[in-house]
Amino acid sequence: MNHRRLRASRHVRELAATVKLNHRAFVQPIFVEEGLEKPREILGLAGVFVDTFHSIRETIAKDLGRGVSKFLLFPIPMAKGVKDFDFSFAISIVKEIKSAFGNDIWLACDVCLCSYTDHGHCGVLTPTFDAVDNHRSVMEISRYAELLAAAGADCIAPSDMMDGRIHAIRKGLDDSGYDAVSVMSYSAKFSSQFYGPFRDACHSSPQAGMLKDRKTYQISPANPDAAVAAAIRDEREGADFIMVKPAAHYLDVIAAISKELRKPIVAYHVSGEYAAIEALAAMGLVERESAHLEVWHSLVRAGSDVIISYAARDAKEWIEKMEL
Ligand code: PBG
Repeated sequence: MNHRRLRASRHVRELAATVKLNHRAFVQPIFVEEGLEKPREILGLAGVFVDTFHSIRETIAKDLGRGVSKFLLFPIPMAKGVKDFDFSFAISIVKEIKSAFGNDIWLACDVCLCSYTDHGHCGVLTPTFDAVDNHRSVMEISRYAELLAAAGADCIAPSDMMDGRIHAIRKGLDDSGYDAVSVMSYSAKFSSQFYGPFRDACHSSPQAGMLKDRKTYQISPANPDAAVAAAIRDEREGADFIMVKPAAHYLDVIAAISKELRKPIVAYHVSGEYAAIEALAAMGLVERESAHLEVWHSLVRAGSDVIISYAARDAKEWIEKMEL
């Protein structure tokens, strides 16, 4: 049995490849901070910047030129509180981006309260500050989603992990006439160390006295069944896209969910996963491009249809010149 014939040259390796990467499946995360004077690079994420209200236009224009047309926006507001959240900065940035680029781009906007709360949790807390108030959080989150849809967002991406939010968001959007706006649910979002660089960038680390982490609402790495169950529930509640996050450390979950559901599965290769590759590359221990390409192959192998990566803007160039 000669298995090496199909590996003998670059040409035959290309033909034998059953996984074909396509840059059209990639989504680029973008960050915009209120009041920021000049773009700042995110610690650990080489080449990824938090943009200002004005610099985001140039970032997107450049990205479009490099073959990315799908974006996931994270607005970072200046004011933090515990209630009466002011979503006006996020609304203005969505309007600004969509008025500049219209349907040349597809804009999903993250929906969560962690950048809005002074304690950094993804929802409103109970008066005793020891638990999230699911009901009140869902009300705020669906109000936020409707405002973003009205501002022109193409997709709402709730990352808060409250129960019942997909139903509430879908109903709110439909009732107010935004039935064409899709919902990308962070269904299988694990309580993970790998969000570190993101939290640093968004000033969103949890720090309430009694509730120091997100384990009461994000999924335990020891409970993959809970992720599959959440994905099934979210599809029933009306999610159009189902996300698994982190991605590369949860390939079993991607595989299980993609078997179970008939909706596009989105793999979010998160900030810490990306930063790990960057750190190895900076030490000369891996070849940066090839390492990212290898991970992307693994995500597609597991069953991902869409990849969110901080290197999405490089995907077209890297995939085109990749040597298998
Ligand atoms: C907000 C949110 C987080 C990420 C996306 N949305 C952080 C968190 O839940 O703490 C992580 C993204 C990344 O690390 O790249 N809830």
